[in-house]
Amino acid sequence: MCGIIGYIGKDKALPRILSGLKSLEYRGYDSAGIAYVKNKKIIVQKEVGRISNLEKKINLEEDTYMGIGHTRWATHGEANKINSHPHTLGKFTIVHNGIIENYQSLKDELIKKGVKFVSETDTEVIAALLNENYKNEKDILKTILKTTKELVGSYALGIICTDDLEHIYATRCGSPLIMAQDKNGSYIASDVPAILNYTNKYYLLEEKEIAKISSEEIQVFDDNLQQVQKEMHTFEGSVETILLNGYEHFMLKEIHEEDTAFKNTLDYYVQNNKFKETMPDFKKYQSIHIVACGSAYYAGLVSKYIFEEYVNIPVKVELASEYRYQKNFYDSNTLVIIISQSGETADSLASLKMAKNAGIDTLAIVNVTSSSIAREAKYTLYTKAGVEIAVATTKAFIAQVTLLSLVALKMAQREDLLQEFKGIENYIQDLVNRDYLPYAKFLYQNNNIFFIGRGVDYALCLEGSLKLKEAAYINSVALAAGELKHGTISLIEDNTPVISVCTDASIALKTISNIKEVKARKAKVLLITNEDINDNFYDYKIDLPKLHPVVMSIITVIPMQLIAYEVAKLRGCDIDKPRNLAKSVTVE
Ligand code: AGP
Ligand code: GLU
Repeated sequence: MCGIIGYIGKDKALPRILSGLKSLEYRGYDSAGIAYVKNKKIIVQKEVGRISNLEKKINLEEDTYMGIGHTRWATHGEANKINSHPHTLGKFTIVHNGIIENYQSLKDELIKKGVKFVSETDTEVIAALLNENYKNEKDILKTILKTTKELVGSYALGIICTDDLEHIYATRCGSPLIMAQDKNGSYIASDVPAILNYTNKYYLLEEKEIAKISSEEIQVFDDNLQQVQKEMHTFEGSVETILLNGYEHFMLKEIHEEDTAFKNTLDYYVQNNKFKETMPDFKKYQSIHIVACGSAYYAGLVSKYIFEEYVNIPVKVELASEYRYQKNFYDSNTLVIIISQSGETADSLASLKMAKNAGIDTLAIVNVTSSSIAREAKYTLYTKAGVEIAVATTKAFIAQVTLLSLVALKMAQREDLLQEFKGIENYIQDLVNRDYLPYAKFLYQNNNIFFIGRGVDYALCLEGSLKLKEAAYINSVALAAGELKHGTISLIEDNTPVISVCTDASIALKTISNIKEVKARKAKVLLITNEDINDNFYDYKIDLPKLHPVVMSIITVIPMQLIAYEVAKLRGCDIDKPRNLAKSVTVE
């Protein structure tokens, strides 16, 4: 959540800050703001809403060579101009990503000392604390160190101080931050896309490190203020990956990249139907906890069926926000798998650290290279979905299900089943290129939609339902088909839309009975199936190819993703940046 960018260099700063902010807008879009230095003064401009609102108000040609910018996902205080970042107190102007949990007690202390606050944010308290500590420390690095020691919570900070307008400072704990340099200057940013127009080389700021960047130099200090050498990383992929390339929305573009996401993931771990060395063997583990949030959690639920079927060991799938605060039972043979597209999700990261502290081995299934979760885990396997920008995940989900199935087969020593993955990209392409508008037209005026399925189809229904909620703002409920009669069937009336997924032959007849139950109550049913069903108990049917169960769940979700996309379009939703959401959830 929240995107941070900073630039200092020989070029005019505002075009770079603005283009960086635009690439970070997926992280939050409640408000946007910049602070830049002109005639030795710090000037702050902020606007509520999208970056485009800010863009209209600023002069890109401004004679400034240094500045910081922020796009906000509000946590403390509503999305208004006063609460927008940057925040200034005294000599310090800052942008912040994260949550300061002890901000109220710090604020109370500062108020007693006479500090006046104008916003409701936790961020302004950091600026005030910096300003206060600077009075004694008289050195910016020491001040940042002292201040961060007093903070409880998560932060990535971009900091400028009126006493040193030759540098931008940055530090982080919990929330991500990178640094980069090109021939024209130096940058700090929340994520690599912000600097990709200028360079694909970057450095990672580790927890508690402090960066001091000038036009020519990036210096990084540890928490003893000793300078540390940083390793340079290279972003795989080009700037093209973050452009729309003719598609109307990133969500649609990314669905059209699902065949490549699948194939790249497969090819990274498998060659000629054999596992490559890139795929480690986890067969010593006798139980698995899968922990994740949102769609990544649903990918975990899908994989549970595959692990249990083929590896024959118990698998528990947990929401990270619950897992991190509950009592978990491990033994030395437990593997904790954390799934995350961004690799920065706060609850998933905290769960990972918790398992690690308990001495349990951890495996991260992550899409973003060198992200916090990727670096923190004992083992990390990357999905090769490429950059995903739309807030609603699509291709990363497909890549997660693919990779988890591969991990399961490796554990189960079922290399013989790898042949089932051959050519799946063609089925994906076929499904992606079909027309889902007729189904969208049937659904888009409803405010309640039900999804039903059993087993792995239930897990996929949960993901289909989430897509409809986040992209199209339709309240939809996904239920295990057999559970419907225990209460929720009371909501089925004439024409209530029910989407039923039925791809598991072993329980297809049971699901069909449940569909008939809702039909008997005059529901309108859209059936998504690979079964050869010619009965007339449904109103619409989407036929899926009949693939081996180990690969079937890679493709089943596609019609649901595209239906959500088409419904969102018909409803005029802001598809890539749905209200209230952000792509990278770095706060609790
Ligand atoms: C998916 O469409 C959602 N935007 C969301 O549920 C997401 O999957 C969740 O926040 C987890 O994110 P992560 O994969 O980056 O950890
Ligand atoms: N807590 C800060 C605010 O509400 C930053 C929020 C975030 O990083 O998501 O402004």
